[in-house]
Amino acid sequence: MMDFFFSILIAFMTFLRFLTHPIYVWFAQGKKKSVPPITNDILRINATELAAKIRKKQLSSVEICQAYIDRIKQVNPIINAVVEDRFQQALKEAKTVDDYLTKCALNEEDLEKIKPLLGVPVTIKESCSLQGLSYAVGMLNRCGYKAESDGEAVARLKTSGAIPLLVSNTPEMCCCLESSNFITGYTNNPYDTTCTSGGSSGGEGALLGAGASVIGIGSDIAGSIRIPALYNGIFGHKPTARIVSLKGHFPYCYDEKFKSCLVIGPMSRYAKDLKLMLKILVGDKQATQLKLNQKVDLNKINVFFMEGTDSILETRVQSEIKAAVQDAVKYLSSQCGVKVKDHKFELKYTLNCCGKHIFNIKDLPDPLKGENDNIFTEIIKTLFGQSRYTPNLLHYLLVNKIYDLFVSDRTMEFAQLKKTFIDSLGDNGVFIYPSAYTTAGKHNQFYFLTTTAAYTILANTFGCPSTSVPCGLDKNGLPVGIQIMAAPNQDRLCLAVAEELEKHFGGWVPPK
Ligand SMILES: *[C@@H]1O[C@H](CO)[C@@H](O)[C@H](O)[C@H]1NC(C)=O
Repeated sequence: MMDFFFSILIAFMTFLRFLTHPIYVWFAQGKKKSVPPITNDILRINATELAAKIRKKQLSSVEICQAYIDRIKQVNPIINAVVEDRFQQALKEAKTVDDYLTKCALNEEDLEKIKPLLGVPVTIKESCSLQGLSYAVGMLNRCGYKAESDGEAVARLKTSGAIPLLVSNTPEMCCCLESSNFITGYTNNPYDTTCTSGGSSGGEGALLGAGASVIGIGSDIAGSIRIPALYNGIFGHKPTARIVSLKGHFPYCYDEKFKSCLVIGPMSRYAKDLKLMLKILVGDKQATQLKLNQKVDLNKINVFFMEGTDSILETRVQSEIKAAVQDAVKYLSSQCGVKVKDHKFELKYTLNCCGKHIFNIKDLPDPLKGENDNIFTEIIKTLFGQSRYTPNLLHYLLVNKIYDLFVSDRTMEFAQLKKTFIDSLGDNGVFIYPSAYTTAGKHNQFYFLTTTAAYTILANTFGCPSTSVPCGLDKNGLPVGIQIMAAPNQDRLCLAVAEELEKHFGGWVPPK
């Protein structure tokens, strides 16, 4: 009975989406802007190659950082993705790198081993904590708050020689699939500014999509890396649970479920850079255990796939996304010798099962409780523009309440599904699946795109790795993408397939 109400609610919201869609399109008419074309060729070189060129002194770190800083300054007025920058310090650090290299006694190989990203600029999602920069994460009551130290993931990137340029935008407390808040405002999609860049790593997504960053880090508890990766046409990897330290991330809590669902992971414009970054984020020992240095033999891989579950409650997957899943499977089997398995998983109820699992997390910081505010009065106040909390956050809290009240506990069903899924994939299987059922929606349309996270949430609740791969543009010029999942600790399979599919689909394409 409870679940029946939940199904009705989703069907109703889907119906409202159908009714309201023309209104969103009408309001966006004529307002579409996109970012200017890329003129500096440095911006088209992958991070792995940039690092090599710096070591060989073919390009200076200053030159590269300056190219990115110029590009960010050019596009940020259009995409509004930057919360706070550190351009001056970054250029100083780049100069130090260049000076060091002129008198460095180490050979290139050793240098690569100890500082694989020496001199390469990187961008950081604000919630990952970059020392000295804003750490408000879109919350008015944290406004002006600066990170006292680097999050562990950020520290590892710095140790590898990377130079952070800025912290990028998120929704309030990272609780939405649209990156907007009362401090920085809305982040726009570089392919169409009337559309969202997604969330919660939407600032990273927009910067990378716009060619204003080459590598970055984001975090993902239900799709927050992979959905912005989809919407902005880039690569994003959600690592296996617990292999990348979450130390320093905000929000954080001690519930074991939280620590296994939330991950920090790499986002990039070029597939190859994901692996380099993942190795740095997990450290040498873990990289060896995960066999990240071993070549993956594609013709030993089994591919499972689904174009969607027709009933992630009545929402149909966009035809271009379905076609991309088909095309990927066809390419992998005809060109790379993978074995295609026609086993389908019973994923109809993932939204219930996995959603319930996530919303059962206890002890998450409750932004309202500390302040003695109440969600229902805040929702009334927000209608009159009087709440201190964003509609995004209130929407999230409301959905949380709906799950508490109207979705039954499916622990047994969930455990069974997880076991079947992981056992089927084993140590040589990948699962190709949509990252979401549509390409980027208009700003604020997420209220009606209720089941967006249904496709991504699976990997979080199962602890599985998953890589979002861009597959060209749809008829409106918005990026299409799919995700490649694997069983826990098989990240290398996702990454190898992503690199292969980049060749086929052409990877990131600059916005026009
Ligand atoms: C990285 O960039 C270099 C220089 O543009 C290019 O030659 C190389 O093929 C790229 N590698 C990959 C895997 O994209």
